[in-house]
Amino acid sequence: MTTKMWGGRFHEAAAASVEEYTQSESFDRALYREDIAGSKAHATMLGACGVISTDEAAELVRGLDQVLAEIESGAFVWKRELEDVHMNIERRLTEIVGPVGGKLHTARSRNDQVALDFRLHVSARLDVWRGELARLAGVLADRAEEHKETLLPGCTHMQAAQPVSLAQHLLAYAQMFRRDHERLGDCLKRVRVSPLGAAALAGTTHPIDPAQVAASVGFPATFANSMDAVSDRDFALEALFCASVIMMHLSRLCEELILWANPNFGYVKLPDAYSTGSSIMPQKKNPDVCELMRGKTGRVYGALTSLLTIMKGLPMTYNRDMQEDKEPFFDADKTVFASVSIMADMLKALEFLPANMRRALDRGFLNATELADYLAAKGLPFREAHHATGAAVALAEKKSVRLEDLSLEELRGFSALVEQDVFGVLEHEAAVRRRALAGGTGPGPVAAQLANLRAWLAELD
Ligand code: ARG
Repeated sequence: MTTKMWGGRFHEAAAASVEEYTQSESFDRALYREDIAGSKAHATMLGACGVISTDEAAELVRGLDQVLAEIESGAFVWKRELEDVHMNIERRLTEIVGPVGGKLHTARSRNDQVALDFRLHVSARLDVWRGELARLAGVLADRAEEHKETLLPGCTHMQAAQPVSLAQHLLAYAQMFRRDHERLGDCLKRVRVSPLGAAALAGTTHPIDPAQVAASVGFPATFANSMDAVSDRDFALEALFCASVIMMHLSRLCEELILWANPNFGYVKLPDAYSTGSSIMPQKKNPDVCELMRGKTGRVYGALTSLLTIMKGLPMTYNRDMQEDKEPFFDADKTVFASVSIMADMLKALEFLPANMRRALDRGFLNATELADYLAAKGLPFREAHHATGAAVALAEKKSVRLEDLSLEELRGFSALVEQDVFGVLEHEAAVRRRALAGGTGPGPVAAQLANLRAWLAELD
């Protein structure tokens, strides 16, 4: 039996099933970098504060560097029976440096140690997500730039409503991903708080300097309350909420691409590299990547729900339940990172089909609002203008023609205010051009949105 580090008062070994049930080494070994960085910061601080000698601190740091090298080279032997990443690393450290290894854990508990490790990990991953979100927003900006002149039906209730530019449509998604990026930035303020020094729960009697540890791991703040420090997982919950919103945004975009790739729409051609065929129906090209991304959104919501549920019944302070916080985050991280980055690559390769979008514009009277606004601008109360336009649409529908195919006389039958200039007003390009107010689909506001997005992206670099 490998002696447990906490084995002093125990006479019997844990049952094998219990050892397997309680261990976290199989998944928390992913935190080895953070664990070693935190331990090096802690050892250095203990030396600087005189809790151990500076020679001992240097010896611990040297040993920890060797452990890191062994893990990275694959030489490190992970032991399940040592429970978790922390004890695996500390045990090997002690083998390397001898009894001084036992001093590393002075003024520290695994409770504040694991909280720091996890915070460091979440912090690093959120930065990676932010990088990918910015890249995705950049791809959307590039595609929008190409399609400033491309028009398609904008929808409400999934029904064609008014013409918009494809640029405006794509930039709507860029706004979502920009907010996701900013939301992560806000979340990171609460992730980057060092809990080290809270020890088991009550703080420590040793004269240590938590701020030094925080500074050396790159966190701007230290804990305010030792009990909160070891029992708080809000930072991970917030990260999972941010992840859920990112996936929700991606899933909406996927849903849209699935529709657009359907031959009934035909607005996009999915790149071969991002779709698959059917094993039985030779004509099919399936939007599997989009479907899977939409499906994987459920996993990420699941991770958030999992951790919320894990936390809801926990009295102060650390409870072992909290060991269950890591796997949901790891799984969500893998999903979010892959999804954002695949979406960026897929959008780059996507082929838009403006001719089909154009054809769709000519079905469904998308310029009806233009006629109503035209009459309203000439002084007719908007409700009456709306009514007159409705009647014109009914006539066009009956004749199976577009609104602009009605003759001037026919249109004047609905309102004497209609004149020859109405035909220019009914053109889709004109309808888009007239939406010149900030944030609208007109070329001016679209160019302004693009410039603003580019300036934001440039500031990030
Ligand atoms: N593996 C544990 C976890 O992930 C480390 C902390 C253990 N603390 C304790 N008091 N047993 O939460």
